[in-house]
Amino acid sequence: MEISRPRGTRDFLSKEMKQRKHVENTLKKVFENYGYGEIKTPIFEDLTLFTEKSGEAIKEEIYHFKDKKKRDLALRPELTAPVARLYLNELQKHVKPIKMYYFGSCFRYERPQAGRFRQFWQLGCELIGGKSPEAEAEVITMAAHCLDEIGLKDYEFHIGSLGIIRSLLNDAGISGEEQGQIMGLVDKGDVEELQKFLNNMETSASLKEILLQLIEIKGHNEVIDEVKNIIKNCDEAYNALNDLENLLNHLEAFGFSNYIVNMGIARGLDYYTGIVFEIYVHGLGAQKQISGGGTYNLIEIFGGEQVESTGFAFGFDRVMEALKKQDVVIPVENNVDVFVAPFSDDMRKESFKITQNLRRNGISADVDLARKKIKKVLAYADNLGVKYVVLVGARDIADGKVALKDMESGDQELIDLDRLSQELMDKIQG
Ligand code: HAM
Repeated sequence: MEISRPRGTRDFLSKEMKQRKHVENTLKKVFENYGYGEIKTPIFEDLTLFTEKSGEAIKEEIYHFKDKKKRDLALRPELTAPVARLYLNELQKHVKPIKMYYFGSCFRYERPQAGRFRQFWQLGCELIGGKSPEAEAEVITMAAHCLDEIGLKDYEFHIGSLGIIRSLLNDAGISGEEQGQIMGLVDKGDVEELQKFLNNMETSASLKEILLQLIEIKGHNEVIDEVKNIIKNCDEAYNALNDLENLLNHLEAFGFSNYIVNMGIARGLDYYTGIVFEIYVHGLGAQKQISGGGTYNLIEIFGGEQVESTGFAFGFDRVMEALKKQDVVIPVENNVDVFVAPFSDDMRKESFKITQNLRRNGISADVDLARKKIKKVLAYADNLGVKYVVLVGARDIADGKVALKDMESGDQELIDLDRLSQELMDKIQG
């Protein structure tokens, strides 16, 4: 019987892991440079953490189960709700804003396809409290900075405002559930279905018209006036637009202008209240969204005070795929610099001793464990791509020496055994 991987999951071999690690570390470095500290939360949480805001329907889309004590638990589909819970449990008295970032796997019960998995990784951040255009501008700029740092090109950064649509819907007395459905259709970009849905609702013709017009608006700062014109009769929506305009002004100060204002962004998750944004990379097919985020008010929903927060998460797997598609070279460093090769069987134990000595001195080293003949050992070491081979021969050892071979130049020299670590250290560190 062959046991295969569960649907929608992947294995990663070490070359790919090295590349993922490199990108992960580069992104984390940017987060840290902006003052974010890394946190970790559990992979599974109380199911209510995810149903509280989204409703029972979300259960269809996530992995949930009862444990042995019949507690309802869920594998996290994302990390914003867990971070809000963490804030409520641990950080309510902390001075705000609080800057936290995370890297971890998430689970969604979705139909797998290219770029869409059942287990995937998110690298994201939450800026808790201190909602202001400058806070939002900094978060957005950091997201773009991250992508520049890893060498990703041609990404499209779309910024919108859920506050505007939500204000219009609130103003028209549309229920939360219906708002959710409308947002879902806007998120899918399914204008036809949206039209049908609005036609079946008892709302004014003008609201329908405003909504349909609004979600089509895309452009740079000049579209603000267009939006103003459309929403002029709704004060709340006007305030939300003001927030957006303020944000755009601040983005200039943070040095980021490469964005598109897009009124059609609705986001799949329903806790957003204000600014929202999504980043797309064309060439990834249907799953082109590599990141999403915005301003939300989740802590209040969980029973805390009103602490508005902003955050986003990169879909790490999609970022990796985008880098691959764009042929961005990601360094893959060899982990082993030195291979220790015994010339004959009686030199094996001596070789292990030498290897351990190198390792204890901080030099990455490997040794023949398969009792191969010297020719095969050298071929194996060559294949590993090591920089140096230490040849351990009985006659040299009797003189307290070993031969050190530079695999690139082919040069070989005799070295005193007690100077080997230092010699290698100097050579490797250049
Ligand atoms: P999200 O848009 O649902 O937002 O997910 C963030 C990113 O995760 C997406 O843009 C996408 O790249 C990636 N992603 C989502 N589902 C999958 C999947 N099945 N397979 C591969 N990648 C996927 C959130 O999760 C929010 N918590 C983001 C946030 C943080 N908002 C505020 N703070």
